[in-house]
Amino acid sequence: SNSPAPETKTGAAPKKYTVGFSQIGAESAWRTAETKSVQDEAQKRGVTLKFADGQQKQELQIQAVRSFIAQKVDVIFLAPKVETGWEPVLREAKRVNIPVILLDRGIKVSDDSLYKTLLTSDFVEEGRMAANWLAKRMNGKGNIVELQGTVGSAPANDRKQGFAEVLAKFPDMKVTRSQTGDFTIAKGKEVMEAFLKADPTIQAVYAHNDDMALGAAQAIEEAGKKPGKDIILVSIDGVHQALEAIKDGKLNCSVECNPLLGPGAFDAAEQILAGKDVPKRIVSKDQQFDESTAAQALPTRKY
Ligand code: AHR
Repeated sequence: SNSPAPETKTGAAPKKYTVGFSQIGAESAWRTAETKSVQDEAQKRGVTLKFADGQQKQELQIQAVRSFIAQKVDVIFLAPKVETGWEPVLREAKRVNIPVILLDRGIKVSDDSLYKTLLTSDFVEEGRMAANWLAKRMNGKGNIVELQGTVGSAPANDRKQGFAEVLAKFPDMKVTRSQTGDFTIAKGKEVMEAFLKADPTIQAVYAHNDDMALGAAQAIEEAGKKPGKDIILVSIDGVHQALEAIKDGKLNCSVECNPLLGPGAFDAAEQILAGKDVPKRIVSKDQQFDESTAAQALPTRKY
């Protein structure tokens, strides 16, 4: 029943191998860019990729991983929606020696040999960067509302934590409302509409991703205010649409989060299949864009 990875005698990566990729879904522009990066890289390297869209459901992602195990893929890529609940299925993969590589989001497991490596950004640091930018922009004073990412996901938990950590140093800056917008434009808009109705004192929005900030900007406009001017918006991802909006003065700052994880993921896969060690965490370095840099950065942005 064991299906050992197709290692070559020389320890070089195998020529032909198959990867199963369990993706969360297509909630955001960032997510779509990540999917494309993995698909493009598979094609470039001639790797057979089995792609499963989890449609935002952890159960579907678990089913997909099980089906990859049944199909005896050589490597599994998993972008886990939430942090918990993965142990049983990961143990099934480990039992038959199929290495698992986590893409972008981390998980909580008691045994970290259940995955080989995690390719990610430092989400806590992204939250800190957003808060530091906002503190400067607001002179350490003001009412902020927070649009959180998907409940239970690593980026929502970590971005909330990093932001709160920095805000603790500014007693006159307060998060007056905080709710999930599930990383989507539609939910970001809906939640912001409710916030605006309930509270006329909102001065800034901290959104855990660009899509929710773009949705919030629409809600602000429809409420007769100017996003980017009457209400400051800072978010995370650095996707093209957000940089365009910054250029147009409708968003103010976006902290980058690199979705182009395909090349690194296949590099790691090939090292693992060749029997080499890979670091447990491979972290992308992120920058930030605001009114002073977005327009200049746009022409060369890859996502
Ligand atoms: O896990 C990364 C996050 O997931 C991105 O910041 C967000 O846009 C996406 O949905």
